[in-house]
Amino acid sequence: MMEEVPRRDALRLAVGCGLVALDAQGCSAGRVVVGRQDRRSGHPSSVAVHSQTTRVIAEVSAIVAGAPLDVSAAAGAPAYLIRRGDSVRMLSATCTHAGCLVTWQKQRSQFVCPCHGGTYDGQGAVLSGPPPRPLDQLPVNIENGTVYLAAETPATP
Ligand code: FES
Repeated sequence: MMEEVPRRDALRLAVGCGLVALDAQGCSAGRVVVGRQDRRSGHPSSVAVHSQTTRVIAEVSAIVAGAPLDVSAAAGAPAYLIRRGDSVRMLSATCTHAGCLVTWQKQRSQFVCPCHGGTYDGQGAVLSGPPPRPLDQLPVNIENGTVYLAAETPATP
């Protein structure tokens, strides 16, 4: 029986299985439906990775220093927005060791990788474990208090 999973879970599952394409099916934890129509209802599934709504990532005011904001980067890739003062950066949630997805552990104030125990600080620097380098920084632009994917920032007059 086909099982649908929420967008975020589907993307994490796809990346965790080493799949490059977002249109993935057949991962070990069950069938993944991404960007397809629900065959039972005929309505689009909850996943719409390439919609116009992905252009704006977040409002700067929604990003709290010390509390990375879980967002989607280009093509729905899991990422975090982090803030330090007036500076906002986006970090990939993909561990630099072997590509598992890190999660922010509020209690530890660290990004933690579940695969081999790698840890990163709140700015993405390696704290422990096998990751060879910090979390990758992804390009963003900030215009009028809004964070955009860098390639999709509206043209300035
Ligand atoms: Fe993250 Fe190995 S994949 S520590």
